[in-house]
Amino acid sequence: MPDTILLEREGGLLTLRLNRPDKKNALTRAMYSRLAEALELAGNDPQINAVLISGSAECFTAGNDIADFLEQPPSDLDSPVFHFMLNLLECRKPVIAAVAGAAVGIGTTLLLHCDLVYVSRDARLRMPFVNLGLCPEFGSSLILPRLLGQAKAAQLLLLGEGFSGEQAAQWGIATQALDSGEAALSKAREMALRFDDLPTEAVRISKQLMRAPDRELLRKAIEHEGALFTQRLRSPEALAALTGFIKRH
Ligand code: COA
Repeated sequence: MPDTILLEREGGLLTLRLNRPDKKNALTRAMYSRLAEALELAGNDPQINAVLISGSAECFTAGNDIADFLEQPPSDLDSPVFHFMLNLLECRKPVIAAVAGAAVGIGTTLLLHCDLVYVSRDARLRMPFVNLGLCPEFGSSLILPRLLGQAKAAQLLLLGEGFSGEQAAQWGIATQALDSGEAALSKAREMALRFDDLPTEAVRISKQLMRAPDRELLRKAIEHEGALFTQRLRSPEALAALTGFIKRH
C-alpha cells in the first residue's frame, strides 16, 4: 500500500505531503496518527526549522474520511485527529500550508492554526459541518467570528458556503493567493525554507508570543466543540448525511 503521508526533508524543512490521490487525500485515523507523530518529531528535532503541510497541485484534502467517520468515529480527546490538531496547535516550529484544489472540512479548519498559508486563487475551501449534521471544530467557532465578524463567519459555518483561495487571502485566512496550484506549492516551499536563515530562538519566541493571548481560550473552545462534535457524529442528522455521501459514491 502506498504511503499516504510522505515525509520529505530539505535543509531544515520537513514537508508532510498528503498522498491519497484516489480519495482526494481524505484523512484517515492512520494518516492523523502519522501527521501527529511527524509534528512531534519536528518540534523536538533541533535540525528542523519549519514544517510544510501540502497535498498535490490538484488537491489539498477532502477532509475527514467519511467512511472512517461512520466506522471509527473519534470519541474523545485521545483520538488520532485530536492528537494531530493539538500537536499542530502546540508546534514550536513555524507551520506553513500549501493549498490547491479542494480543502474541505478539517482541510480548511487546520489552516486556521498554521502560521503561513499559500493558496491557489481557484482553491475551493469549505467547512460543510452543519450540512453534514455536525458542528464547527478545533476552534473555528471562536477564530472565524473574530477574524471575519459574525455575519461572514455564519455564511461559512452555518450555511457551509464554499469560498475561493482568492477570498481566503482577502479575509486573512490565507497569507497569499497565487495563480496556480504549482505556484502555491512553490511559494510555500520558498517561504518555508526562509526559516533556515532566520534566528531559530527568535522565531520560536515570536510564534509563542503571537499565540499566547488566545491559548487557554482556544483550548477550552476545542474541548467544548470536540464534545459536541463527537456527540453529533452519532446523531440521526449526521448519520443520514454521512451515509448519503457513501451511497452516492
Ligand atoms: N471521505 C472519503 N472518501 C472521499 C471523501 C471523503 N471525505 N471525499 C472524496 N472521497 C472519495 C470519493 O468517494 C471518490 O471515491 P471513489 O472514486 O472510490 O468513488 C473519490 O474520493 C473522488 O471523489 P469525487 O467526489 O468523485 O471527486 P470530485 O473531484 O468530484 O470532488 C470533493 C471532490 C472533495 C469536492 C468531493 O469529493 C467532496 O465534497 N467530498 C466530501 C468532502 C466532505 O464532506 N468532507 C468531510 C467534511 S467534515
